[in-house]
Amino acid sequence: MKKIVFFNNKYINSKNAFISYEDRGFQFADSIYEVIAFINNNFIDLDFHLRRLRRSLKLIDIKYSFNKKNLQKIFKKLIKINKNKKGLIYLQISRGVQPRNHSYNKNLKPTIIIYTIKKNLNENLDKLSGKKAITYPDLRWKRRDIKSVSLLPNVLAAKAASKKSAYEAILIDNDFVTEGTASNIWIVKKNKLITHPANTDILKGITRQSIVKIIKKEKLVLSEKKIKKSELFIADEVFLTSSSSFVTPIVKIDNKLINKGRIGKITYNLAKIYNSKFQ
Ligand code: PDD
Repeated sequence: MKKIVFFNNKYINSKNAFISYEDRGFQFADSIYEVIAFINNNFIDLDFHLRRLRRSLKLIDIKYSFNKKNLQKIFKKLIKINKNKKGLIYLQISRGVQPRNHSYNKNLKPTIIIYTIKKNLNENLDKLSGKKAITYPDLRWKRRDIKSVSLLPNVLAAKAASKKSAYEAILIDNDFVTEGTASNIWIVKKNKLITHPANTDILKGITRQSIVKIIKKEKLVLSEKKIKKSELFIADEVFLTSSSSFVTPIVKIDNKLINKGRIGKITYNLAKIYNSKFQ
């Protein structure tokens, strides 16, 4: 079936959406992106995603202005013409096209692509299942808070995970957990929820932010601190959060079972509360 995408301010057949070989996104990963889940016309945590998008653009000095109303119109139109019910909006903005030079010229015209990805989200509690993860070295740069498309280390880690039939790779930097290749990582120990602090070492996940709010509302105990790799294996529960996977229990890491291979109570309850927004 024909797929329509929004490419440089036009709705076109995806087959005709080509970028120049001199696009800086292609040559230098000089580009940022967002991934937003949708169910019907409900764009989950849209305001937070747009705030992070503005921040990423500002931090790498791409001048691209947008407003929420217009973007929402584009998203709704794409969903409608592509007959999507639920899935992900992928939005990417690169600095634009210029003869190859590491340094960029002023006033380039950013390249923008927005399209929908049909996907079953993890919103159905009855289908919540525990997943396997592997640990893998975190080989990334030092500004992981910027949602840049420079994802080669994540790509290699994700491939290593899929080779072992694992759902995610948990990245380890100097013996500490940072995050997943495309998710934030949490553990539960003695009823306390622990996740990496939102600094430049990780992407401050929008789902992470929603879970922090739920934790506070439910009066659970939260500790934003670094998790040692060894703490993963003795955690009572481990789970990940992301826009594309919501709250996902991890029940096996590197062939070691977590919580005897079962979904933990706190994980389940957080998934239940988080998912209730979309019922
Ligand atoms: N990934 N950490 C990394 C490295 C990520 O790429 C993501 C999201 C997250 C979770 O962030 P959020 O809750 O805002 O989705 C954490 C998206 C889904 C992706 O690249 O497909």
